[in-house]
Amino acid sequence: MDHPSHSVDCGSLNDALRLPLICESELSTQSIPAQRDSLKPLNRQQVLNWLSENVPEKRLNHVLRVEETAVKLAQYHDLDWERAAQAGLLHDLAKYFKPKRLLELAKADGLELDPIDEINPHLLHADVGAIVARDEFGVCDAEVLAAIRNHTLGRAEMSLLSCVVFLADSMEPGRGDTTELNELRQLSRKNLYRAVLQTCEDSMRSLFASRSLVHPRVLQTRNWALQMAQQSIKGDKPKLSSA
Ligand SMILES: [Fe+2]
Ligand SMILES: [Fe+2]
Repeated sequence: MDHPSHSVDCGSLNDALRLPLICESELSTQSIPAQRDSLKPLNRQQVLNWLSENVPEKRLNHVLRVEETAVKLAQYHDLDWERAAQAGLLHDLAKYFKPKRLLELAKADGLELDPIDEINPHLLHADVGAIVARDEFGVCDAEVLAAIRNHTLGRAEMSLLSCVVFLADSMEPGRGDTTELNELRQLSRKNLYRAVLQTCEDSMRSLFASRSLVHPRVLQTRNWALQMAQQSIKGDKPKLSSA
């Protein structure tokens, strides 16, 4: 695995992205209450330096694109783009952790594991990424941590911020320029729930086609997104959660 130690160009985003984060709390990622005003400045360069030591350059570039895509999507939907930027920057911290380490960190933090997590520990990189964000960078904002945890499998009742980061990971420009992806990018501007629904269904279709296991959380996310999409089409105001 290539772990470059080049100096990092902070730059696909402007200075406005050197933003809030960090606090002193060591609370569990599972139990942190919503703290809307607790966002404190993140030392973005410190995160970039850590990433440059722990992920390949290709992944670092993906992270920067997810950060930028999440910011744009959050701004488009009038959501908290500062939290979107932080979650985007931090979402793949544990991407290159070995399976044994992912399982150890998840168990040590009291995460409830599905049998599929044990079979495919890589799926835990999202949950473990939130643990690293908390322990390595002092992140304690509940919504940011949840968006990191939810970026791969989603979660029923996840917040709109989580939807934004989940979608940014799937559709950042480096993912390609196919018709399907471009449709998803358009859909993400029209309706976040429909875009989450589409992403889950595409992912499940691809897993079925390759006869791979499907994590139950993807189905739970899909069923939730379907209901939310139907509510929003009917014009009902969807009930939102900060999960
Ligand atoms: Fe990821
Ligand atoms: Fe990612």
